[in-house]
Amino acid sequence: MNKITMREEVKEKRLALYSELYHQYSHQIQELFFSIEAFKEARTIALTVSIQNEVDTYELIKKCWELGKVVVLPRSDFKTKRLTFFQVQTFEQLEETKWGLKEPKNEDKWKVSKEQIDLVVVPGLAFNRLGARLGYGGGFYDRFLENENFVKVALAFSFQVLTSIPTEEHDQMVDIVITEKEVIYT
Ligand SMILES: Nc1ncnc2c1ncn2[C@@H]1O[C@H](COP(=O)(O)OP(=O)(O)OP(=O)(O)O)[C@@H](O)[C@H]1O
Ligand SMILES: [Mg+2]
Repeated sequence: MNKITMREEVKEKRLALYSELYHQYSHQIQELFFSIEAFKEARTIALTVSIQNEVDTYELIKKCWELGKVVVLPRSDFKTKRLTFFQVQTFEQLEETKWGLKEPKNEDKWKVSKEQIDLVVVPGLAFNRLGARLGYGGGFYDRFLENENFVKVALAFSFQVLTSIPTEEHDQMVDIVITEKEVIYT
């Protein structure tokens, strides 16, 4: 299967999740995420704000704040295909971009450098047990993660874990995949 067909298939399955299960599974994933050592040790965590039926991160972000973690969220530059991270302390700091993403407002005082980040929650449509990842097709995270030493964690519903993922040379792997059923150390 090629990347384009696989993206469509996973998106369809994710939209079909009943809302009850969606919240239940998202909650289970969140609890497993909080249980891993890498989370406990991390001070600054890069996350994304969930859209559509991605694993819900609103509750997770709130919980991170309560636990005293520094939450940083990306702004995407579609010209350069680069991400810039900003510390976010309240959802009021977010704005909806023209691509339908919820991203932090572009305020210099909240900007955070790469070196400050301990753990990156990497978004994606599908993963495998070896850590291969199928993203949304922009290469944003592949560029951001290249030659860096973050702990990389993916949060995914179990149907997003597939046996084989088409990858290319530039694709970056994740270290841990967390589903509602299990924590997979890749
Ligand atoms: N480190 C890189 N340097 C240059 N080009 C890159 C790099 N990483 C990815 N690209 C380019 O970006 C494009 C999209 O990559 P890919 O299909 O792997 O996206 P993706 O992993 O699904 O996206 P994302 O990381 O935004 O979720 C490809 O054409 C690829 O060549
Ligand atoms: Mg990729």
